[in-house]
Amino acid sequence: MTLNIIIIFSIIIIIQISKGADIHVLDSQTRLLEDSSMPKFAETIPNITVSVGKDALLSCVVENLNNYKVAWVRVATQTILSIHHNVITQNPRVSLTYNDHRSWYLHIREVEEDDRGWYMCQINTDPMRSRKGYLQIVVPPVIIENMTSNDMVVREGSNVTLVCKARGYPEPYVMWRREDGEEMAVGGEDVNVVDGEILHITKVSRLHMAPYLCVASNGVPPSISKRVHLRVQFPPMLSIPNQLEGAYIGQDVILECHTEAYPASINYWTTERGDMIISDVSRAGDKYETSSTTIGYSKYMKLQIRNVVSADFGSYRCVAKNSLGETDGIIKLDEIPMPTSTEGNNISNIDLSTNLIRSDHKPTIVRKPKVFTTSGGESIYKKHFCIAVYISYIIVIVCYNILFSSRNEIELIAHVSHQMINKL
Ligand SMILES: *[C@@H]1O[C@H](CO)[C@@H](O)[C@H](O)[C@H]1NC(C)=O
Ligand SMILES: *[C@@H]1O[C@H](CO)[C@@H](O)[C@H](O)[C@H]1NC(C)=O
Ligand SMILES: *[C@@H]1O[C@H](CO)[C@@H](O)[C@H](O)[C@H]1NC(C)=O
Ligand SMILES: *[C@@H]1O[C@H](CO)[C@@H](O)[C@H](O)[C@H]1NC(C)=O
Repeated sequence: MTLNIIIIFSIIIIIQISKGADIHVLDSQTRLLEDSSMPKFAETIPNITVSVGKDALLSCVVENLNNYKVAWVRVATQTILSIHHNVITQNPRVSLTYNDHRSWYLHIREVEEDDRGWYMCQINTDPMRSRKGYLQIVVPPVIIENMTSNDMVVREGSNVTLVCKARGYPEPYVMWRREDGEEMAVGGEDVNVVDGEILHITKVSRLHMAPYLCVASNGVPPSISKRVHLRVQFPPMLSIPNQLEGAYIGQDVILECHTEAYPASINYWTTERGDMIISDVSRAGDKYETSSTTIGYSKYMKLQIRNVVSADFGSYRCVAKNSLGETDGIIKLDEIPMPTSTEGNNISNIDLSTNLIRSDHKPTIVRKPKVFTTSGGESIYKKHFCIAVYISYIIVIVCYNILFSSRNEIELIAHVSHQMINKL
């Protein structure tokens, strides 16, 4: 110490001699030189960011501590956490480690949001020297269940509001989107994402029926989402691609009906008399086979009628019922002539599919071409007519010969006529 003081005074004297400097410079020089023997901070205390539940470590590096002591203080509460080698706080999550009296580490286990704030490293010099570091506690987003919408069932045409509240630190960003990634019609626009806690749909339609995701994120992993299923109720609706179907005797024909309903409807077919058609699928080759395919709220109903007989022509009704209502539609099955080819009645080389008939929405009437055959009515008349002409001709000849010719000639003519008739 005394050596230091001697050196300081020597320097001061040297400065005064060489420059005649003013008192202010002198003072600061003195302090600077004093400091070199005093404890000082080697570095600032870095800010640290820790996710809630993890461990935090604050470090304070001091040079020339000598006989001074280091303390950790919680600034906000003015709580002393540690002094020198001792932990003072009652908080069991706080502990201390140190190295050569140079590095002093404050450990906080499983940090809580309350631990967020400034921490001070102090040295008990006079005046006291200190440095501060900020402990940031971040919290991954959490959805506040009791303030967030759950699965919903609404009537078509009503207004729907889905709400999603989340908390976390920093405050989370919240958005809504459809789980399937499809666009949604909101406020007259088709959008992929709605920013914010509220998804408001005016005049909800069945197209809005989907699972939705509320996604909350704040840069602290993991992001979180909640799935909210929106179900839109409406009474059954029905459409029929072909209200008029044609089939010929012996054909297999398929009648089709499309329905939409939510909740799912009960669908069935009836005959003209109102009898429900029940197909027995286990019995191969049964007269009727009904089937239906469901895609979301849509159902495609099919009724196959095998080996159509004349009793099968008439009306068929498809019916869809749910708790909100009922609807039906009628398909008329008409007879059409069996199609023929120009080569004759070879059915196997005619396209049996009813596509052509269906695409017209009305059955095409295929007329049977007229063919003269030996059994045909018109050719029989022709034959009779010819025979009559020949008989008359023969009578005339015979009479003529009786009157004017010899007997032999008459016999000859009769013979020829007879042969001609046989040929016919
Ligand atoms: C430490 O964090 C505080 C509060 O967030 C901020 O004001 C300060 O600038 C930060 N210091 C450093 C060195 O990042
Ligand atoms: C939600 O639940 C919390 C407790 O979990 C309660 O403090 C709060 O009042 C509830 N809020 C609503 C809107 O019910
Ligand atoms: C739905 O919202 C629209 C516009 O916000 C409003 O005009 C309409 O009356 C609402 N309908 C119902 C059923 O509340
Ligand atoms: C019908 O036509 C198919 C080929 O087009 C032929 O194999 C078959 O023998 C024909 N049947 C009759 C009865 O003419």
